[in-house]
Amino acid sequence: MINGTTKIFGIIGDPVEHSLSPPMFNAAFKSLNLDYAYVPFNVKKQDLKFAIAGAKAFDIKGLNVTIPHKRKVLNEIDKFDIMANLIGAVNTIKFHNGKSYGFNTDCVGAVRAIEEVSNLNDKNVVIVGAGGAARAIAFQVAITNVKNLTIINRSEKKAKSLVYDLKTLLSANFKDNSKLDDITIDFSHIDLNFDYGGIDSIPKHLKNADILIDTTPVGMDPNVDAEPIATANEMHSDLIVNDIVYNPINTCLLKEAKLANATIVSGIKMLLYQGAENFKIWTGLEAPIDLMEKTLLNEINK
Ligand SMILES: NC(=O)c1ccc[n+]([C@@H]2O[C@H](COP(=O)([O-])OP(=O)(O)OC[C@H]3O[C@@H](n4cnc5c(N)ncnc54)[C@H](OP(=O)(O)O)[C@@H]3O)[C@@H](O)[C@H]2O)c1
Repeated sequence: MINGTTKIFGIIGDPVEHSLSPPMFNAAFKSLNLDYAYVPFNVKKQDLKFAIAGAKAFDIKGLNVTIPHKRKVLNEIDKFDIMANLIGAVNTIKFHNGKSYGFNTDCVGAVRAIEEVSNLNDKNVVIVGAGGAARAIAFQVAITNVKNLTIINRSEKKAKSLVYDLKTLLSANFKDNSKLDDITIDFSHIDLNFDYGGIDSIPKHLKNADILIDTTPVGMDPNVDAEPIATANEMHSDLIVNDIVYNPINTCLLKEAKLANATIVSGIKMLLYQGAENFKIWTGLEAPIDLMEKTLLNEINK
């Protein structure tokens, strides 16, 4: 029950009506007897500044940030961590002593999802798409010990821009100057080869790929019968196929992956693990992963 001592968390975005985060976090808080509540807030683009100021004024303890605010919110945050700085997007805010601290947990959530089935050491990774989610995932993949990272996108411009940003930052000892702790990431030891190819080059790249991550919205409800970005005969049984679309869980791409006897990683896992990271940032506690996953699946199957 909400009372005078309840700590308030939430999500800001537009739209937020269909967000799965409120049930996921409220179930997690309840299971650990935390006097916390999580609320969705629909915030229009022009109101973002007031929303962050208002959250501080209302003594809200933490917020998730979703489309369309993930990039713009950087301007409203007092400090942010190194991955948020590299990626240029924040999806989690913690408020403490009148200051706002921004984090990006999409990136680590996505990689943790894949690590459930395999480590990324020495792997050939293909990412399809070059939008916001691809950017977060690509930066996190790039700081693991992968052998090769290929970005494939429909439009050349976005792919080139992402590869350029990755190369520029990876070729330097990146010194973050605006984040929470004084951390330097040294990328100089990483041997990465970026390759750019249009959508038609997917089959060629899949031949030697270990991990395929589809970050496009292809197959997302209501377009569940869309043509997948790759078919079973273009895959092989040693491939790990991760579709970050989670509605439906069994996307057109994952159906093809099953036909090819590939290992599949559902998009729900990225949502789950980014949430688990948020939970830790806000509470200092390990998240009740199984319960959170069960809650997400229940919500999707409603
Ligand atoms: N599981 C999770 O936790 C999670 C987290 C974040 C996002 N997502 C999902 O990931 C998807 C992408 O989100 P985003 O924020 O990255 O979107 P975004 O910034 O709009 O990027 C979408 C990317 O997909 C490409 N694309 C779009 N339609 C395509 C099509 N029909 N064929 C081939 N490529 C296509 C776009 O290519 P162009 O550059 O050519 O336009 C662009 O690179 C959404 O479905 C979102 O729900 C899931």
